Amino acid sequence: MMDKGKAINVGLIGCGVVGSGLVELFSENNNNGVNLKKIAVKDSKKPRKVPFNNFTDNADEILEDPGIDIVVELIGGHNPAKEYLVKAIKNGKHVVTANKAVISEHGPELFELARKHNVNIGFEGAVAGGIPIINPLLEQLSLGDITSITGILNGTTNFILTRMGERIDYESALKIAQEKGFAESDPGFDVLGLDAAQKIAILASLAYGRWIKPSEVYCEGIAEIMPIDVDYAKELGYAIKLLATARKINEGEVDVRVHPALISNSHKLSRVNEEFNAIYIQGSPFDEYFNVGKGAGKGPTAFSVYYDIVKIAEMARSETVREIRVNYKDLKIADQDKVSTEGYLRLYLRHVPGSLHSVVGVLANHGWNVKDSIQRSGPRYEMTVDGIKCLPNIITHEPLPFGVIKNTIPDLINIRTEKGKSVHGIPFYMRIHNSH
Ligand code: HSE
Repeated sequence: MMDKGKAINVGLIGCGVVGSGLVELFSENNNNGVNLKKIAVKDSKKPRKVPFNNFTDNADEILEDPGIDIVVELIGGHNPAKEYLVKAIKNGKHVVTANKAVISEHGPELFELARKHNVNIGFEGAVAGGIPIINPLLEQLSLGDITSITGILNGTTNFILTRMGERIDYESALKIAQEKGFAESDPGFDVLGLDAAQKIAILASLAYGRWIKPSEVYCEGIAEIMPIDVDYAKELGYAIKLLATARKINEGEVDVRVHPALISNSHKLSRVNEEFNAIYIQGSPFDEYFNVGKGAGKGPTAFSVYYDIVKIAEMARSETVREIRVNYKDLKIADQDKVSTEGYLRLYLRHVPGSLHSVVGVLANHGWNVKDSIQRSGPRYEMTVDGIKCLPNIITHEPLPFGVIKNTIPDLINIRTEKGKSVHGIPFYMRIHNSH
């Protein structure tokens, strides 16, 4: 711990789950002269179970207080969170936030403003809760040459996929995740991959020197996955994970995406289960960086915020400013249609002679080179779709550009033999993650 020097005063805006965790950390530790001075909340009269009693309803009492050195924003969402951060910086205060929405959308503007006003910004809590990743990236890893980042960055979806491996269906697994408090207030944000997209956008931006907005991240969610997919994946030697990835492909191009994927059982990330998050980075000269931990929750996220406060207090005492450089590289975001991938396709086939034959013909016409193919019958697999008895058939294939895969799907849906349509329901496609 640092030597006690000049007292540093902290003002906190927001006292929800993470905010209360932070208050507890302040009360449990000898904070070496860093004092929590005031907390701004929506309703200062509301009884709260935190060891602190100096609350206000007026954020300006923190933002305008010349005695406050560091403003901590923990209200989340875009506004007024962003407005508070801007005001704090303009008033010469260092800021700490765990706000992935604001940082992913407005990082460069805030970093530039901080540089202009000679203050520091900490946002370790914005990505993967308690796992140290922002500071390691800023201070060490980005000095190297990062070839790829692969993360499990959303605890809710990882928890749901773990439960689906126990044959619990998607809806029931989501309900358990919500009861456990992992999910965002709108769980669509978790299951559609949007939460992970904000997080990988931040990590990729710091790694590659070009700010990548969440809207530039290709994104698919997990809602179409069925427990039988998890079984098939297991049979083929894979786990299913919602992966957030970023990698350099060609010179000047970054491929950034979030989607469920089959990942080999030999990959470290395949063994990260329950609500855990993990980050796996490859690059030189460090080779591999792997870190796993709790991606959300009171203690883990509050601890990351606390670390930023302690660190920024130390920098404030030594009058050091850490400049966060972004947008110094001119990089293109890869067009997903041109990116090649291996994958897994599940089709429900009309259970009559010729269905499989017709499907294989269409796949061959589009250039698919099939690797594995599995079809199972029995009550666990059969399904009545459009009033017709169907069996699920799954195939995996050698790499193909994603655009080719997309163009194949309508042709599969439209197959007709003299027995009628061969493919019923919507085909489900999932990429297979290769070794990066
Ligand atoms: N809802 C997120 C998750 C945690 O499930 O990981 C906050 O980012």
